[in-house]
Amino acid sequence: MNSRRYHLTTFGCQMNEHDSERIRGVLEEDGWQPVDDPESADLLLFNTCSVRESAENRLLGRLGEARRLKNERPDRLIALAGCFAQSRQSEIFDQLPFLDIAFGPRNIGELPELIDAVSTSTGSRAYSFDDNPSLSGALPSRRLDRHRAWVQVMTGCTNFCSYCVVPSVRGPERSRKELNIIDEVKALVDDGVVEVTLLGQNVNSYGLDLEGGMAGDRRFASLLAELDAIEGLQRVRFTTSHPKDLSPALVEAIRDVPVVCEHIHLPVQSGSNRVLERMNRGYTREHYLKLIDSLYTAVPEIAITTDIIIGFPGEKEEDFYRTMTLAGECRFDGAFTFLYSARTGTEAAALTGLIPPGTMKRRMGELVGLIQQTALAKNESLVGTTAEVLVEGASRHGGGQWRGRTRTNKIINFSAAETGEPPAAGLLTPVQIDSATSTTLRGRQD
Ligand code: 5AD
Ligand code: SF4
Repeated sequence: MNSRRYHLTTFGCQMNEHDSERIRGVLEEDGWQPVDDPESADLLLFNTCSVRESAENRLLGRLGEARRLKNERPDRLIALAGCFAQSRQSEIFDQLPFLDIAFGPRNIGELPELIDAVSTSTGSRAYSFDDNPSLSGALPSRRLDRHRAWVQVMTGCTNFCSYCVVPSVRGPERSRKELNIIDEVKALVDDGVVEVTLLGQNVNSYGLDLEGGMAGDRRFASLLAELDAIEGLQRVRFTTSHPKDLSPALVEAIRDVPVVCEHIHLPVQSGSNRVLERMNRGYTREHYLKLIDSLYTAVPEIAITTDIIIGFPGEKEEDFYRTMTLAGECRFDGAFTFLYSARTGTEAAALTGLIPPGTMKRRMGELVGLIQQTALAKNESLVGTTAEVLVEGASRHGGGQWRGRTRTNKIINFSAAETGEPPAAGLLTPVQIDSATSTTLRGRQD
């Protein structure tokens, strides 16, 4: 045991947030203690992202501080984890001379050994980037949320969208066995968790790489049904889904399996077939619209969110307007909108026809305005109805307000009923919706 202290900063997506929970779990099992202040840490860790240039720029900004802290106390360790470390493995130690340790998303379990290696030999560096499936078993995890948990059902991605670094940094799709997942969820429920979010880069192709049994397209739906049988589990979410693998069986599961929440995150990326093809997405605009139609038909109250990339190389004005009309037709509840950024090593990095920054920004403004309109219209249509809310705690705005989420994943701030059980984190309670903005609801406990 030791009483050394670490400070961890996370960049990027939910998958990275969950990886950070495991980095914490592995470190704390090894006797390390978390601290909020980097100045008082013996180990500074950065869990990095390289999906877009903006995340890399934020990281590089923070590394200036790490260099200063290393100079101040040379025995302090600096470590880079995650996708940026993996994708730049051959050059990071040259570019960042103050770095001691680097490892990829598949090497979290090796962290204690890497720390030992640099601690026992001054001036040395340690790294691990190899894909070693035998090491990617269940790792201890330190959750930051008591009632909600992420559960990784698969790692990697085998889609090779032409703009994306994920397949090259996280490797091919690999699904965990159902039994392992179910055991993990049961243990989480025993520990007080009421909501799990199943994580995978392409979660609805879960099981396509597993042997035996049912047809691939039923496997994820059947996993959802098995989770429904776990007593005490109240909500199951899953992300991210790929339109190319969204099967009717999954749509039926959202409709029929009680524990599955009425929300899907279904990245479309573009509404133009020409762009979709160049992105190597494997579906057309028409196919996507059909999926949306089948989701609304099966589950009329479903919330649908998406990811859209603006300014993919060669995106003409007419392509962009096809994205606009698609977004209007889909009535999205929200969208993450990204300016295209070229990533080294991806197929799209070689494409010509880069879009000028001014054009990108104008298109982004128009699209964000439209999404706000559809999201507001959908949220306003909920005013007067009552929703089941999972309480997260006191509202950040104070004033005796509480905060929680609906099954459709909308944030709601609400006042407590004067009688009955007071709201407490982890409680499910009905809330009457009184007003709405494009991003939040407001109401009172019923
Ligand atoms: N440029 C811009 N956005 C990207 N994304 C992934 N790669 C890039 C890129 N090179 C977006 C996609 C994906 C989300 C996680 O990030 O929309 O769905
Ligand atoms: Fe990247 Fe496409 Fe895989 Fe998503 S599905 S992680 S965008 S390659």
